[in-house]
Amino acid sequence: MRNIISAFIALATGLTAFAAPAGAGAGDMPEFASETRSFTSPDGNLRMDFILDNGAPFYSLSYKDKPVIGKSRLGMRLTDSGLFDWFEINDVATSSFDGTWNPVWGEEAEIRDHHNEMAVTLRQISSDRRMTLRFRLFDDGLGFRYEFPAQDNLTYFVIADELTEFAMTGDHTAWWIPGDYDTQEYDYTESRLSEIRGLLGGAISGNLSQTIFSDTGVQTALQLKTDDGLYINLHEAALVNYPAMHLELNDSTMVFKAHLTPDPNGDMAYMQTACTTPWRTVIVSDDARDILASRITLNLNEPCKIGDTSWIHPYKYVGVWWEMITGKSSWSYTNDLKTVHIDTDDLSAVKPNGTHGATTENVKRYIDFASEHGFDGVLVEGWNVGWEDWFGNMKEYVFDFVTPYPDFDVDGIRKYAEEKGVKMIMHHETSGSPRNYERHLDTAYTFMKEHGYDAVKSGYVGNIIPKGNNHYNQWMVNHYQYAIEKAADYRIMVNAHEAVRPTGLCRTWPNLISNESARGTEYQGTNGSKPFHVTVLPFTRLIGGPMDYTPGIFEMDISKINPNNHTHANFTIANQLGIYVVMSSPLQMAADLPENYERFPDAFQFIKDVALDWEKSVYLEAEPGEYVTVARKAKGTGQWFLGNVSGEKAHTSRIRLDFLDPGKEYVATIYADAPDADYRTNPQAYTIREVRCTSDSTLEQTAVEAGGFAVSFREAGPQDRKIRRLR
Ligand code: NOJ
Ligand code: CA
Repeated sequence: MRNIISAFIALATGLTAFAAPAGAGAGDMPEFASETRSFTSPDGNLRMDFILDNGAPFYSLSYKDKPVIGKSRLGMRLTDSGLFDWFEINDVATSSFDGTWNPVWGEEAEIRDHHNEMAVTLRQISSDRRMTLRFRLFDDGLGFRYEFPAQDNLTYFVIADELTEFAMTGDHTAWWIPGDYDTQEYDYTESRLSEIRGLLGGAISGNLSQTIFSDTGVQTALQLKTDDGLYINLHEAALVNYPAMHLELNDSTMVFKAHLTPDPNGDMAYMQTACTTPWRTVIVSDDARDILASRITLNLNEPCKIGDTSWIHPYKYVGVWWEMITGKSSWSYTNDLKTVHIDTDDLSAVKPNGTHGATTENVKRYIDFASEHGFDGVLVEGWNVGWEDWFGNMKEYVFDFVTPYPDFDVDGIRKYAEEKGVKMIMHHETSGSPRNYERHLDTAYTFMKEHGYDAVKSGYVGNIIPKGNNHYNQWMVNHYQYAIEKAADYRIMVNAHEAVRPTGLCRTWPNLISNESARGTEYQGTNGSKPFHVTVLPFTRLIGGPMDYTPGIFEMDISKINPNNHTHANFTIANQLGIYVVMSSPLQMAADLPENYERFPDAFQFIKDVALDWEKSVYLEAEPGEYVTVARKAKGTGQWFLGNVSGEKAHTSRIRLDFLDPGKEYVATIYADAPDADYRTNPQAYTIREVRCTSDSTLEQTAVEAGGFAVSFREAGPQDRKIRRLR
């Protein structure tokens, strides 16, 4: 790692003393100071002004001299003392940093962190309390946070409100989901900011838990586009010991204000100095591809805290899962009893329902399939007692995470999987009961290790118990963090569903190998998702970290899996293949049933081949809602892959393959939508063709609506001479 820290005083320019409030005599200290401090990004394109206006802090941001964020309020309201305001500037410290670091896994093997920093320490004159606002400007955006140093007059305090604003400069286009304390599993809406109020009601679909707090509230990461072509992304980084931030729009002024997730008493955050808030981030560019290439979120997180990371590894997996989602089989073991309770029921006396998915026999079928096709792991849901007890109920003690159903032979399955060279992935559905989970966590993780599991998919479906808590308040944020850190002690990898949206914490805790925290493929098995969904996720949900999106569905007519389920999944097979490259994750599922893959072995080959961890990534084309095209070079093997997904319109890509190693000839295998493919009526129509190409070639390829394409490259040999050569 290369660390260069140097002062850059020259960049901190523009000190302006504003007029003192009326009454302040000449030469007197103004009662409440007004001054501006400015600095720029390393390339000079971004400029941020910190403005103290009559004792109150504000900031503004411009990019290539265009305003991005107008003058916007900063600050806090504390429960004990009201507005934390009426400041004077105590100190301004500037520095710059240019270094690189190596993530354990991710979109590239080496990440550059190059930024200028300005830390403004403010002193509240009346109380002698201090707060530092730390701003960092990267070439692609801004991060800032509040810091409360240890000090005599401020130790314990409670945040009643965070005043942070993001003043938009117009009625931008936004890709948004409703602000909600409990779920992110929404379809995105593309609209003008001024339309959010009118559309919000319609944007709310039937999710399991839902706490909408406002008619203009939206979640982050929020993607915006201005009429003159600026892409702006608002999110947060390093969300630790603090509630998640939503944004609430004042649609007369187009100003977003931070809206934190409250605790059951309506308080936001319990703090103890020295402490910091998460970073608030503004990624900005006139090229949408830069939003996807930005590493601001990771760079604002702490370096890895796990000493030996050799046990953390990518996972390509299949699972006993889609058959439950589609309703073909069940998580629960019996229909006979309403309650199969861990302590009270003699399970041997219980009659199985005949549709239980996690039977030893069925699991072995998936293990065989995983082993035959080179998958790393098999996930099994519904293996443990409690599912009958839970559905529809808010009970605290549903699962103990160690008691298998009688038809799931945990030891036999372990032995069988080991013989077949496949790992088992554990499933912990917490049923929204974090205290129950925490009580059992040590025994649950110990059980995993004893039975050969090194990764867990956890889940938080339903309302949080105790009542009044929400999925994204400080207490729950701390719970998710506790589960991740404890898992690291046990050398366990975590993939949490329904947990708070990721904010780059996988840099610090790379055993957090994925998250759900958005509308995943599961909805395509029950009520569908919008065709453009996967062209928006890279700009929103994925800004914080990888998603366990669970793609790879080859049968879109769900009634073919379960005759009682008439859902149609909205995509083509080629779209599903493109996702594996576009939506990078070290954890990727092939979610469909083995029998559906066996029907399309040639298309399935791409899922088998595609890498999960990357040396580098090249963002070739991007427009939120329309298309995303990415090429990535695999870590270790150096093999190139390319993926595209398209939205509600067909898209033709013309791609210079100049990312390929110069001087080498490759064979590209192109998996694409057939010309007559249609995601509604003909989603399984694809073509597979091979072409020879070099870094001078141009690939032209059309993806239909909700379609896509995927390409794997290998070096050409003499045997490939007959293959057509691309110009
Ligand atoms: C919701 C998760 O997203 C899904 O993947 C899982 O199967 C169910 N919860 C049951 O835990
Ligand atoms: Ca979910």
